[in-house]
Amino acid sequence: MARFHALRITAVDRLTDDSVALTFAVPEHLREEYRYAPGQHLAVRRIVDGKEIRRTYSVCSPVLTPDGPAELRVGVRLVEGGEFSTYAHKETAAGDELDVMTPAGRFTLEPRPGHYAAVVGGSGITPVLSIVSTLLAREPRARFCLIRSDRTAASTMFLEEVADLKDRFPDRFQLVTVFSREDQQAGVVTGRLDEERLTRLLPALLPVADISGWFLCGPFGLVQGAERALRTLGVRRTRIHEEIFHVDDGATATAPTTPTPAHSKVTVTLDGRSGSWPVQDGEALLETVLRNRSDAPYACKGGVCGTCRAFLVSGEVRMDRNFALEPEETEAGYVLACQSHPSTEHVELDFDR
Ligand code: FES
Repeated sequence: MARFHALRITAVDRLTDDSVALTFAVPEHLREEYRYAPGQHLAVRRIVDGKEIRRTYSVCSPVLTPDGPAELRVGVRLVEGGEFSTYAHKETAAGDELDVMTPAGRFTLEPRPGHYAAVVGGSGITPVLSIVSTLLAREPRARFCLIRSDRTAASTMFLEEVADLKDRFPDRFQLVTVFSREDQQAGVVTGRLDEERLTRLLPALLPVADISGWFLCGPFGLVQGAERALRTLGVRRTRIHEEIFHVDDGATATAPTTPTPAHSKVTVTLDGRSGSWPVQDGEALLETVLRNRSDAPYACKGGVCGTCRAFLVSGEVRMDRNFALEPEETEAGYVLACQSHPSTEHVELDFDR
């Protein structure tokens, strides 16, 4: 069960003009709760003008010991008008405390032998940095190819950390960097990483059919383009893992196919306790639950982070959009509570499964 604790910030490192890394100290008695898998993220929360805001940020540090972490480091890119990222850039300092949720997310890779690859854009490097640095340090029979795109070298997060991996693992780590706004110059690949380009580039770089797992992370357009390129190249969907950081407004939703019943009710199991409540007209099930249980897990409320995942025990729901759950998860019966509306009069959700 995800929980918030106040963690102390021990460092605020400027990565680029518009990104910082925040490091949190994890007290010994909470280390077990903050144990994470490489690729997972943390939600943070603040109260601004009486309103609670939550954001999720991926952990970038590697998992080098089986014990829970003494420190957690996340990367935060400044979003124009972003309530939390502006605060992180302008106001946070070592010594401050922030409410941080225990780690969540299924965009992960536990170290195991094999050849893996990632296509990332912008801040999409953050979870992949944790994945690749953990994998190469802990599994000598693993290799990794990282294809990353950014606007310019100056705007690229974790440039040094990634260069360091190249120095430490020259035979097992392959890096291709593409800049979209850098002038063409010797040794620098420029332009946009779109579907067509990736379809040509990937087979020239690595044995596509032998890659055990693909990790796609970044803006919606890049992830979708990379997935289509991989499918065109014959890669099975089960080998592709995706995490989307930004969803453009145009990228919404499945249209409603079934109307919401007039008097629907949701029964919820959360942290071992159950309750049943009426669903108000038009609201997503997460809102119904939050009116009655403030401890319901959520972060983005936009169908992107997956924090609100719940098991649909009975009844049917319609999801507005889903950029977080893998097809196997929806087939197994999981839904995003923040995007789900009842299609039947009674719906039962279990957040503990
Ligand atoms: S709260 Fe992020 S997907 Fe529902």
